[in-house]
Amino acid sequence: MDAALKKQALRLFTYGLYVATAGRGEEVTAGTINWVSQASFQPPLVMAAIKSDSHLHAVIEAAGTFALNVLGADQKPIASDFFRPSQREGSTINGHAFETGPVTGSPLLTELPAWVECRVVGSVKQGDHSVYVAEVVEAGLRSDGAKALDMWNTGWFYGG
Ligand SMILES: Cc1cc2nc3c(=O)[nH]c(=O)nc-3n(C[C@H](O)[C@H](O)[C@H](O)COP(=O)(O)O)c2cc1C
Repeated sequence: MDAALKKQALRLFTYGLYVATAGRGEEVTAGTINWVSQASFQPPLVMAAIKSDSHLHAVIEAAGTFALNVLGADQKPIASDFFRPSQREGSTINGHAFETGPVTGSPLLTELPAWVECRVVGSVKQGDHSVYVAEVVEAGLRSDGAKALDMWNTGWFYGG
């Protein structure tokens, strides 16, 4: 395989951007991710690939649940704030307010337009990321008509 062509081909994949959050109490954590998709209508399943050596991975493993907070089209600066390690201060993570998810207890970022709470139903641990398959057990919309942040428009790449 030509590694450069493989990279170019994979970089044409399209993605949204999400802040994945997990844990509760003092153990909350958050990270911006893009390797996410819906995976079933019934039951409603999503899948997310999480870097095996990340703190986010460790917290999801322990909790068995997580939330996906959908970033709005104008929220690139917020996405950037969750590339760095999570610091919780009161009811904020990395300076952004959260509330506790009603079903899983995962943090829900109140500035972001939509969220889903997820319960892990399976995982595939191959390579440097684990792929979690998780059932959507609760969902919320804070801003009707919001547009989602498109990875392509950020100029960022992850993978390839
Ligand atoms: C553009 C971009 C996209 C990313 N996408 C993912 C992803 O899909 N999955 C993932 O596990 N990490 C992804 N990361 C890395 C996470 O943001 C990082 O691992 C996260 O902040 C958790 O780190 P920590 O829990 O070890 O502090 C991405 C980073 C960047 C810069």
